[in-house]
Amino acid sequence: MKILVSGGTGLLGQGLLRLLRGAGEHEVRCFVRRTSPAERLEGLELAYGDAEDAGSMARALRGMDAFVHIAGIRYTPWVLEAMRRAGVERLVIVSSTSAHSRFEFRSAPRLANEALLAGSGLRWTVVRPSMIYGSELDHNMHKLLRFLDRSPIFPLFGSGENLWQPVYHEDLARGLYTALTKPGTEGRIYDLPGARPLTYLDLIRTAAGSLGKRVRIVRVPAEPVRRALLVAERLRLPLPVSSEQVLRLREDKAYPYEKAREELGYAPRAFKEGIALEVGRLREIGLVR
Ligand SMILES: NC(=O)c1ccc[n+]([C@@H]2O[C@H](COP(=O)([O-])OP(=O)(O)OC[C@H]3O[C@@H](n4cnc5c(N)ncnc54)[C@H](OP(=O)(O)O)[C@@H]3O)[C@@H](O)[C@H]2O)c1
Repeated sequence: MKILVSGGTGLLGQGLLRLLRGAGEHEVRCFVRRTSPAERLEGLELAYGDAEDAGSMARALRGMDAFVHIAGIRYTPWVLEAMRRAGVERLVIVSSTSAHSRFEFRSAPRLANEALLAGSGLRWTVVRPSMIYGSELDHNMHKLLRFLDRSPIFPLFGSGENLWQPVYHEDLARGLYTALTKPGTEGRIYDLPGARPLTYLDLIRTAAGSLGKRVRIVRVPAEPVRRALLVAERLRLPLPVSSEQVLRLREDKAYPYEKAREELGYAPRAFKEGIALEVGRLREIGLVR
């Protein structure tokens, strides 16, 4: 199959490209921005452009059988326009389990973009990852590990009883690869989270344990922090976290994945196992002790 991949320089994209190369039976082209770290795509054919520019994507899609769009569900309108122009019909697109959020500011944009696919006439498949972790390219966990590595205490906003279900990047990449290559996935939406939900408190303790550390938890009430952030946001002060993020800390992010298990053979690993692999990786490159 001739496959165009966007987002190839990111955490999930790198994992998918390893699988595509390993399979040895696909021709892969990567859609990248001029500013992308192209050294991560060594040996692969590149097509330059931007996902907000349908023309550049349409050119990159020429002659391809399928598009795996990892760069962001928010670009769906341009993706659909580019597919139409290039006459490519098969699309596998990465959304997010945030589509399940009870907070509309998280779920509504994802659901609206996913809904565009239904009327597109394409053979589409959606995969929805939960929080992705596994290397220095992840957005959250490597920062948490580096913090835990250096700090004897951990400030915990709220009760810590809310649920999380992060997914190890290679498990997710395998799920995405299967959604692309297995027949019968067209018109399907698959949630691809980690093996089991765990409380935020367990997540912190497990991450600290994988570093060989015991961490002292210092509880910080979340609501006063959120209110202070709201005020600071109104004053347009630059902040490391947003009031919306603090609000979402209270939401359970746990997701069943029977459909993916049955139809894709999806079998992600436990957090304890994945985080130990990430610690190994971060030690190897000197980011944690
Ligand atoms: N990370 C998570 O925890 C998480 C959770 C749920 C869903 N997701 C979704 O899963 C997907 C993969 O996540 P990830 O963590 O692997 O992403 P990532 O590491 O942040 O990488 C994003 C990739 O998209 C590319 N990209 C972004 N904007 C682009 C544009 N306008 N035009 C072309 N390329 C563009 C980036 O290219 P450059 O190299 O040029 O920056 C990069 O390759 C994303 O769609 C994300 O929204 C992520």
